[in-house]
Amino acid sequence: MNNIFQRHRRLRNSDSMRALVRETALHKEDLIYPLFIIEGKDVKKEVPSMPGIYQYSLDRLDEELDEIVGLGIQSIIVFGVPKDKDEKGTSAYAEEGVIQQTIAFVKENYPQLTVIADTCLCQYTDHGHCGVIHEGDVLNDESLTLLAQTAVSQAKAGADIIAPSNMMDGFVAAIRAGLDEAGYQDIPIMSYAVKYASAFYGPFRDAAQGSPQFGDRKTYQMDPSNRLEAIREAQSDYDEGADFLMVKPALAYLDIIREIKDRFPLPLVAYNVSGEYSMIKAAALNGWVDEKSIVMEKLIGMKRAGSDLIITYFAKDAARYIDER
Ligand code: PBG
Repeated sequence: MNNIFQRHRRLRNSDSMRALVRETALHKEDLIYPLFIIEGKDVKKEVPSMPGIYQYSLDRLDEELDEIVGLGIQSIIVFGVPKDKDEKGTSAYAEEGVIQQTIAFVKENYPQLTVIADTCLCQYTDHGHCGVIHEGDVLNDESLTLLAQTAVSQAKAGADIIAPSNMMDGFVAAIRAGLDEAGYQDIPIMSYAVKYASAFYGPFRDAAQGSPQFGDRKTYQMDPSNRLEAIREAQSDYDEGADFLMVKPALAYLDIIREIKDRFPLPLVAYNVSGEYSMIKAAALNGWVDEKSIVMEKLIGMKRAGSDLIITYFAKDAARYIDER
């Protein structure tokens, strides 16, 4: 019996043999944990559709930050939930806005954390769209001005990375120009380059309270059927000077993650979104799946597909699982 078939099982013989040939690893440095900060006092409120995920007011955020730092997580992405919303999302770029205050607080008290600011208007506009509205349309170029203003206010508050998620055309160029002009040429842009119009964002809209009040986001977020369009989106953000490219959601788009990773020499971020979290949580709470194994398997899958970094609501759990190993 020589060379008639191959003995793949030789390399699976023992724990140590499997460890020796393991191709993909998940590290704590790969994890980015999302936080929702709500304007107000003394709030710690569980998001109904996301068990284990809370909205915090700034005065109680230290409990969460202590835990994150204790677990060895190094990066967070922050979403503001403001009290006041208006047509133009004024609270998104207010100097004393909830997210600006949050960023300043974290940088002062937890300087070791990398703070990534989500740059969008949807939580801050009364209509819930990611840009300015005129007669039912989301205006592209008019929105860019406000988005650049938002990014600059976040950088001014101390954000380490600006992460625009609004999907207007030209947002990387506009934000880059705005940051440079304001003296923030060293602040990188993590572009939500490839963002699909996805049903997997459902629970997030509970958490961040930014649902569109009419219509949907299909005129600016991408059609899930499209692959070439993802390449065009990533290409333009690359050309406009993005420092990181993101693909969002992750699980239904692993092919896109691989494709973007192979084509563009930038760090690639996968956003393992709210719906992907809630589905696993719901199944685990019912005892239908083994949560720990499933979580690690899917995070490894995202890394194997080409993600360097993963934004995930499971970051704290994954950090604990990594410690247990
Ligand atoms: C804001 C934004 C959304 C998410 C991140 N930033 C919602 C949306 O575009 O509808 C979704 C994240 C998640 O579902 O976890 N534009």
